[in-house]
Amino acid sequence: MDTKLLFQDADGFQTQMLAVFAVDIASGKDAEPLLALLATSDAITNAAAKVLASGEFKGTLGETVLLHAPSGLKAERLLVVGLGKAKSLSVDEVRRGAGTAVRSAKPLGMRDMAILFPEDHALSDEHLETLPCTLLARAVVEGAELAELDWDTYRSDRKDRSVRTLAVLAKEEEKSARAEIQLGFEEGLILARAQNFTRALVNEPGNVLTPTELGRRTAAMCAEVGLTCEVYSTEKLAELKMGAFAAVAQGSAEPPALIVMTYEPTLAKGEVAVEGAPVIGLVGKGITFDTGGISIKPADGMEKMKYDMAGAGAMIGAMRAVAQLKPKVKVIGVVCSAENMPDGKAFKPGDVVTAMSGKTIEVVNTDAEGRLVLADGLHYAKTLGCTHLIDAATLTGACVVALGILNVGLFSNDEAAWESFVVAAKISGEKFWRLPCSDDYKDQIKSQIADMMNTGKNRYGGAISAAMFLKEFVGETPWVHLDIAGCAWNDDSKPWIANGPSGVAVRTILQWVRSYSA
Ligand code: BES
Ligand code: ZN
Ligand code: ZN
Repeated sequence: MDTKLLFQDADGFQTQMLAVFAVDIASGKDAEPLLALLATSDAITNAAAKVLASGEFKGTLGETVLLHAPSGLKAERLLVVGLGKAKSLSVDEVRRGAGTAVRSAKPLGMRDMAILFPEDHALSDEHLETLPCTLLARAVVEGAELAELDWDTYRSDRKDRSVRTLAVLAKEEEKSARAEIQLGFEEGLILARAQNFTRALVNEPGNVLTPTELGRRTAAMCAEVGLTCEVYSTEKLAELKMGAFAAVAQGSAEPPALIVMTYEPTLAKGEVAVEGAPVIGLVGKGITFDTGGISIKPADGMEKMKYDMAGAGAMIGAMRAVAQLKPKVKVIGVVCSAENMPDGKAFKPGDVVTAMSGKTIEVVNTDAEGRLVLADGLHYAKTLGCTHLIDAATLTGACVVALGILNVGLFSNDEAAWESFVVAAKISGEKFWRLPCSDDYKDQIKSQIADMMNTGKNRYGGAISAAMFLKEFVGETPWVHLDIAGCAWNDDSKPWIANGPSGVAVRTILQWVRSYSA
């Protein structure tokens, strides 16, 4: 989609469809909806007046009404998009509203459309403060770009229903607001496209996206945006003594891939690199298919385990955005990719493996493979000089049981890192819920014969046991662990987004990285 921002009057804008937002400004819980458009144009207000007064359109989030040949407008159609109650309005509703607008256009075969940047005259002052222009602009473009994708790549009967051009129309404002909107728009475009890059990777089936292919696609992306990228395989794992990662890979005919992406901030003329500046490590679980290995998974739902590389996908997408947004901080992305298969050569329950850090692990369950590859990935990132670590992984079914599909499980050994992550999540509009990983849980992974086991001694708090395992490999380094098992794949579609890969965490990780920018 060719998405552009225009500071132009909406009434005279020629397009197949102009979308405007409406909110319910009625006060009182059970009051009948009283709708107000987030538009100042008289022509738009008049065109929508009848349908808004009819009571047929309630203006709830995701609800739309389409008007043909609106008088006084050059647009061929006017789409009114509900955002819900004005009282609870946030940038998230605007993100979803913009998505709803795009997804309404697609089945109608609309090729070009416009969205009116929300004009807030209908809202109270209280709202104006909570909806800064930059974040609003970001939300509009993010919602629209995320909504445009449908996962029909492998359908031979697919119809091209893409919206080709989208104009976000904003009023000619005073200069400062213009600059803010422009900035938000540009950032939003980069973030959403990075997230879409992640989603496209996660959507790929396991026979197409092998570890080698993931390496190839990552290297191509890195070359495109100017990141350094190295892709290693079996020999390098042996050389680095990554015994945990190698054990997972050994049962597959597909060789593993250790992918390292590096972003170095450019120094301004005369600027010298700051001694002791932070180096951020992004580590992703990249299991391109998880059968469970010898501890094989039940057949029911196993096909979904192609998304077991969503953590890697998130880090690759985040690195893409890093390269484009250019924060003043060094960032290293480490992806540990393998296929977890049962085989004559596969690792087995009871095996003891030695991780790169030198710690020994008793493998109790070969299906707990994600933590094994991450153990070596996290330690390796530290040896590359990372001072702050974050990992993302579809790590445990237990996390899905605990938090469902709306909140990512978050663990951290460092209050400051956690706090800056919370701030980042507020800006990105993604949801995370912190779970504990204090040392009193360590007993869970105590082994009889090795330094630790790769599962908890029972099923209680399975997401925590996995986090405790990872914690053994990060040591004192400030670290955030994201268990995205429940959020990386949406089974149900929404009016604003297709079902399938979500690309969760990309935007927040990026925002968190930027918080370390000098
Ligand atoms: N990839 C799975 C976790 C998962 C489950 C991701 C559901 C997405 C949806 C992981 O490798 C796994 O199988 N974990 C086991 C750990 C157990 C054996 C300790 C699990 O959660 O059952
Ligand atoms: Zn598994
Ligand atoms: Zn897995």
